[in-house]
Amino acid sequence: MAKIMDGKALAAEQMIQLKTRVDALRDKGKTVGLTVILVGDNPASQVYVRNKGKACQELGILGDTIVLPAETSQEDLIALIEKLNREKAVDGILVQLPLPRHLNESEVLRHIAPDKDVDGFHIENAGKLFTGQPGVVACTPKGILHMLKASGVPLSGKEAVVIGRSNIVGKPIAMLLLNENCTVPLCHSRTQDLAAHTRRADILVAAVGKPRFITADMVKPGAAVVDVGINRVDGKVVGDVDFEQVEKVAGYISPVPGGVGKMTICMLMENTVEAAERKVL
Ligand code: GUN
Repeated sequence: MAKIMDGKALAAEQMIQLKTRVDALRDKGKTVGLTVILVGDNPASQVYVRNKGKACQELGILGDTIVLPAETSQEDLIALIEKLNREKAVDGILVQLPLPRHLNESEVLRHIAPDKDVDGFHIENAGKLFTGQPGVVACTPKGILHMLKASGVPLSGKEAVVIGRSNIVGKPIAMLLLNENCTVPLCHSRTQDLAAHTRRADILVAAVGKPRFITADMVKPGAAVVDVGINRVDGKVVGDVDFEQVEKVAGYISPVPGGVGKMTICMLMENTVEAAERKVL
């Protein structure tokens, strides 16, 4: 049976350390501040944003959520971001994705000051990751790497197969794993014979968005399987991995819920604390 990569426990440990850093900043007269912008009323986004607010509260970070109507214009959204860029009390700015269709996502993200871009989605931060320079790393990929390392999964020289080529998960986690000296096939919806790739994977990252898509026959015995999926099936949250079957084959596996999702929020808090520390320390 696979060892569980317990994101919930790892995040809880990390949150204790982050609390110490938030307290140390407060002793220096700096209250850490994160502003989350939610445009529209996507129900999944509402849940994510609420959870981010809860994590802020737990750490003593001043969390502010600004909810804008779905029909907000590109100009108004950018004007708000630019105002937040200038506010000293705001250390981190996060625009919850996806945005309504009429808004240009990359254009909006480009207006966030790179230092306050706690999601790591600004092209400057994405470019730094791509070229191996220090910058803000996107929360989900950062959390995945943290989880793999904390679980003692060997990375250097290993084959790490990523499924999914999004800017939020697939591309940045591929880059992080490459920086760890993994060999990294980046698979996607047009990949031919996906199972041939996944069966070679020592590390398999599934960011597909299809419930229980990864079955046991697709997994190399002993592999570390990271499930990034959050799918709602009959009112229940399930991942992209058929957990019950795959856990019998894998060496390590992350559950859903209680895996990557918990790490993501924790890394958002870390990126926010780091943004505040850059100003003060
Ligand atoms: N939507 C899904 N994941 C994310 C994330 O990590 N950050 C933001 N801003 N939106 C998301």
